[in-house]
Amino acid sequence: MKKTEIIIVGSGVAALQLARRLQDQFYVMIITKDKIESGNSYLAQGGIAAPLGRKDSVRAHLKDTLEAGRYHQDEDSVKQLIVDGKRIVETLVDEGAPFDRNKDGSLSLGMEGAHCEHRILHSGGDQTGKYLVKHLLKSLSGDKVAFVQGEMVYELVKDEMGRCCGVKTKDKDDAIRYYYAPHVVLATGGIGGLYPSTSNHPAVTGDGMALAFLAGAKLSDMEFIQFHPTLLWSNGKTCGLISEAVRGEGALLLNDLGERIMEGVDPLMELAPRHIVAECIYKERQKGRNVYLDISRIKDFQEKFPSISTLCFNHQISIGEGRIPVSPGCHFMMGGIVTDRVGRTNIPGLYAIGEVACSGIHGANRLASNSLLEGLVYGERLGEYLIHNGVSHSSHIHSSCPSLKEGEPLSISFQPHALKKGMMDYVGIIRNEEGLLTQLRWLKEQPLTFHELIDFNSREEIHTYFMWIVSLLVTESALLRTESRGGHIRSDFPNEDNDSWLKRKMILQNKEGRLRVEYHEQNETKIYA
Ligand code: SIN
Repeated sequence: MKKTEIIIVGSGVAALQLARRLQDQFYVMIITKDKIESGNSYLAQGGIAAPLGRKDSVRAHLKDTLEAGRYHQDEDSVKQLIVDGKRIVETLVDEGAPFDRNKDGSLSLGMEGAHCEHRILHSGGDQTGKYLVKHLLKSLSGDKVAFVQGEMVYELVKDEMGRCCGVKTKDKDDAIRYYYAPHVVLATGGIGGLYPSTSNHPAVTGDGMALAFLAGAKLSDMEFIQFHPTLLWSNGKTCGLISEAVRGEGALLLNDLGERIMEGVDPLMELAPRHIVAECIYKERQKGRNVYLDISRIKDFQEKFPSISTLCFNHQISIGEGRIPVSPGCHFMMGGIVTDRVGRTNIPGLYAIGEVACSGIHGANRLASNSLLEGLVYGERLGEYLIHNGVSHSSHIHSSCPSLKEGEPLSISFQPHALKKGMMDYVGIIRNEEGLLTQLRWLKEQPLTFHELIDFNSREEIHTYFMWIVSLLVTESALLRTESRGGHIRSDFPNEDNDSWLKRKMILQNKEGRLRVEYHEQNETKIYA
């Protein structure tokens, strides 16, 4: 294979869509720390939101997205996401992507929470991510796109001008490798694995955000985490997602007493925005009651939801009884690496797309099924940008590898499960100052800094170090935002405070080993610390 021109870290929908766009012009390398099937995209059940229904419109989809995100978005960016997304989804339909259809051959459009129209395209019932990943993979050429599986990127390499020009990786035996290219794209997904209850693959713990932060990239909106209301609850723990599409098909949320818990909470009942449903289930469970999805009204459940049926079967939950026990868990990160509309970060040569990025479209809470849409749109857009702006940068031509840094390797004195427990207890669905300070103190007591020497640490240790970094950024941001908005719910500040916080963002950056937080408003920037 020729010299790599573009490195993509991660192998979900955003990464594959980008590779597909680039492959006619460039040599692309996709590096993933596990297997392609281990990513979050592959697990996605719900689908892709697009305004394709007869009564639907870009305007209606825009309105639902802004409302779910509690108006913390950049409206133009959201509009453009939906316009471009509709066109890209239509192209996928034209090229034969396997979306489910009705008996008359028309596209079957599902309903999910906070949508006012049926607009969710899905595949294989509840296996949309898997089918979409397979469809995108099929269209990649082996000549121009190389896959490196099982290697974890642990450092972004920059040249003397500060331009990102490559990555360092470790394989499962901790052997170090270097890869160089004039453009490096992070598409590593979110942070679900920082929490013990999550719908995400457990390996998804925010690596891309930690890598970018250490390299000096700006991050934002780290307090906005979406907790999905309905993960399967079995044997005292959560064990996989029960798609919102199940509620879209008519499932009810009941407690042990048979009461509908959403009664009087929100007029949309079970299909209220996710943070409202998740908070309600959480509070009900705090009272010592179990919560169930009553699926008895759904016809042909197994046919409509084959992977959920298998999940329940594997955890000894009988679908036939019509009740699935559920509990909320971490699902999606709205914040991430700050990017512009094509995915550029503040570091030349470094880009971010998909969940790892914060491009201003999800605001304080993502609308259901807007994330595969985001991956498709930003993958394509960055592809276009790179094609039109070329890749000729001499900086990536290294005659030798940079030397490994000397010094003591970092020492981690805690187990990841201790960090995860603190994140769930204190930085979870409902937060307050006391809890956030407890977790922040614990994180800061660890003898770690933002400039550890990690070349000689094991991959597992680096992984834990990255979890520590991202947890710190989330906890600090959650403490500073003294209001409740979307996925960020503070019991000590229970209301939205539009006067102080509506369009106010916190931008986090590593400045010479110290965390710097800036408040950005529409027309001004205030320095906090
Ligand atoms: C779901 O199927 O409930 C999740 C879909 C999404 O998060 O967009």
